[in-house]
Amino acid sequence: MGLQSGVNMVSLDKVILALDGSRSEVERWLEFPFSFYKVGMEIFYAEGGLVQEIKGRDKRVFLDLKLHDIPNTVYKAAYALGGLGIDMINAHAQGGLEMLKAFSEGATEGALAKGYEKPLVIGVTILTSLSETKLKRLGYLDKPEDLVLRYGHLCKESLLDGVVCSPKEVKAIKEALGQDFLTVTPGIRLAGDSLDDQRRISTPKEAFKAGADYLVIGRSVTKANDPSEVIERLAGELQ
Ligand code: C5P
Repeated sequence: MGLQSGVNMVSLDKVILALDGSRSEVERWLEFPFSFYKVGMEIFYAEGGLVQEIKGRDKRVFLDLKLHDIPNTVYKAAYALGGLGIDMINAHAQGGLEMLKAFSEGATEGALAKGYEKPLVIGVTILTSLSETKLKRLGYLDKPEDLVLRYGHLCKESLLDGVVCSPKEVKAIKEALGQDFLTVTPGIRLAGDSLDDQRRISTPKEAFKAGADYLVIGRSVTKANDPSEVIERLAGELQ
């Protein structure tokens, strides 16, 4: 499929298409005019070679593996992954300051050693699947929104480029950590779409208006019956 006529390519540059399905689904969506794709652990562990395939199509890759281990291990893992030439990668902020610094250094040094540019290094604050009650059970006494800011500060101090967060948290994060600190937001649904397992959702327009730098969108696009129609609707919302 060629590029859609009338689709604003610049606005689609803010979208990271989440590829959570099979290899054939990934190959299908590579034909569409997205420039940034999210590869998560469920597909990377089964089909790691897909990263090179996507890069070979001159598209960007966000490797969503959420690294979390002792600093030395994370450094080595991030070094290896940085060497794949990926454009964005993430780690759990809960690993702490030293781990986050090791993550950033590993990903950067691994990329540069292979002649690639430094990838964007992003922290994961609190998983949206963890409610306040579940967090209490894990020993976290702060409210989820306070924890997100606490971990945001930690990510900034570790010199990460930004955080993954809900579109509803973008404003507070930008106010506390600066406009240049990147926000990457899942939990996006086009108006009228099914919520699936997401709870606190925003439309692309709301997330964009709140100042989100990148919108991670999966099922609202990938489950659409008419991809051309949904892509045009999405690009229209982001102008
Ligand atoms: O299909 P949907 O748009 O809900 O997909 C969102 C993507 O973002 C999925 O890959 C999901 O795992 C990921 N994600 C999320 N919420 C987070 C972090 C990641 O939905 N807090």
